[in-house]
Amino acid sequence: MPEFAREVRAGLGRDGQKTLPCRYFYDEVGSALFEAITRLPEYGLTRADARLIRDHAVDLAARLDGPVVVAELGSGGGAKTRWILEALARRGPVTYYPIDVSPAALAACVRELSSVAAVVPIAQSYLEGLREVAARRPAKQRLLLLFLGSTIGNFDRGEAAGFLADIRASLLSGDALLLGADLEKPVPQMLLAYDDPAGVTAAFNRNLLARVNRELGGDFAPRNFAHEARWNAAERRIEMHLRACAPQTVRITGANLTVDFARDETIWTESCHKFHVEEIRTMAARAGFRCEAQWVDAAWPFSESLLTA
Ligand code: AVJ
Repeated sequence: MPEFAREVRAGLGRDGQKTLPCRYFYDEVGSALFEAITRLPEYGLTRADARLIRDHAVDLAARLDGPVVVAELGSGGGAKTRWILEALARRGPVTYYPIDVSPAALAACVRELSSVAAVVPIAQSYLEGLREVAARRPAKQRLLLLFLGSTIGNFDRGEAAGFLADIRASLLSGDALLLGADLEKPVPQMLLAYDDPAGVTAAFNRNLLARVNRELGGDFAPRNFAHEARWNAAERRIEMHLRACAPQTVRITGANLTVDFARDETIWTESCHKFHVEEIRTMAARAGFRCEAQWVDAAWPFSESLLTA
């Protein structure tokens, strides 16, 4: 059984809280819906990330002396990365390794950024891709690894610390990690960012069910599930759920699974943890990084941390 089918089976076939992994949001439709989310007035996260990078790219480049190669985990189209590559390219030729599981995202990187850097796409998951980069990188060049957009927030806090330690293990002393993390802000503002009035985030969430139908022969009626964003104060995270509006049974042929839903039962589809700036420094220190610089956006609390291995 393919991995998607196995994970759907594991997440929906269990007793207790049903789950689906958030990385399956990003098929072609889901990636387009996420792109739309990033333009919503209620969702300031991506614009804050982009502003910080644009405004501090030159300072960032100045802090990394000598020749630098750049890699990025979950590059997407690489739009924000252009500022960094341009700042580094003033000193000499730059190599850029975008790491992404989406061929469309990698193709966009090659198309958009080849005029600034030598783009070497790596079609792998984060840690496998990073190991591949570690094997290919030229000796004597510093590696700058980008992990932007607060994707780190999808991990549970303990997992995030473990993930940073895994990253550190693939880096050499002197390498750097630029980590983007969304900061805690007033609860109504956070809820609105994940439950926008136009319903784009609801469509993004429900598309996961539509994707199960398309790829695994499921018979979900996505509109029988209501989009829900909750703030979990103890864990300091937004949780996204899909709530069954009525009792129903769903058959997913490709996962060899029949699932019953009680009325109001939910599928938990994503966690988006929010951070304090000091917490990033502590977490980074435990994983073997020193915090070189931190920048926080004035309009939308979001931080960019430059961490040195
Ligand atoms: C891409 C994981 C950073 O957590 O804000 C946006 C995904 N989910 N709206 C986030 C997302 C719903 C996003 N990340």
